[in-house]
Amino acid sequence: MIIIYNSDSGFTKKYAEMFASATGMKAYGLTDNIPQNEKAVFFGWVFADVIKGLSKAKKKANIKAIVAVGINENSEKNTKRLQQSNITQNSPLFYARGGVDFSKKHGIQKFLLSVVLKSQCKKKAKTKEEAQQIWEETKTKGIDFVDIKNLQPLLQWYQSQN
Ligand SMILES: Cc1cc2nc3c(=O)[nH]c(=O)nc-3n(C[C@H](O)[C@H](O)[C@H](O)COP(=O)(O)O)c2cc1C
Repeated sequence: MIIIYNSDSGFTKKYAEMFASATGMKAYGLTDNIPQNEKAVFFGWVFADVIKGLSKAKKKANIKAIVAVGINENSEKNTKRLQQSNITQNSPLFYARGGVDFSKKHGIQKFLLSVVLKSQCKKKAKTKEEAQQIWEETKTKGIDFVDIKNLQPLLQWYQSQN
């Protein structure tokens, strides 16, 4: 089994590499020269509930498990929505919280991300000023939730396969 990942700003790649070093599996980017028709675990970043690259990965490999990497909190509701918006029926779907790096985002993606995060800042803050402060901090420092603990359910699934 191999790992295939599709990452835009690097967080999904970090998870794929963590999983590779935990299992000894080889990780390939979606545009790399991937060996044909291998069994694979696919890691893709989430864009408006769509797991980016999943349909392309399915054409290149036999996808046995899917890991969606997004900024939302991990919850049953979030996973259900991802299952409804993506064709995941034949493989288990795992979720790992990624991050945000504004320095790597441009144009429409940067704009959309700003809209979502600004509204989250408003929800967190008690006053307009506090919301603005949290937003400024998010913009400059970014957010990084990447943690091997978030891959625990996937690692358990992987061990059960062997
Ligand atoms: C335009 C845009 C839309 C996004 N939509 C979602 C979303 O619907 N759900 C979610 O959980 N995260 C969403 N995200 C957050 C990304 O999935 C998150 O930043 C992820 O860690 C990016 O992974 P990458 O660094 O591998 O590209 C969105 C990000 C961008 C830029």
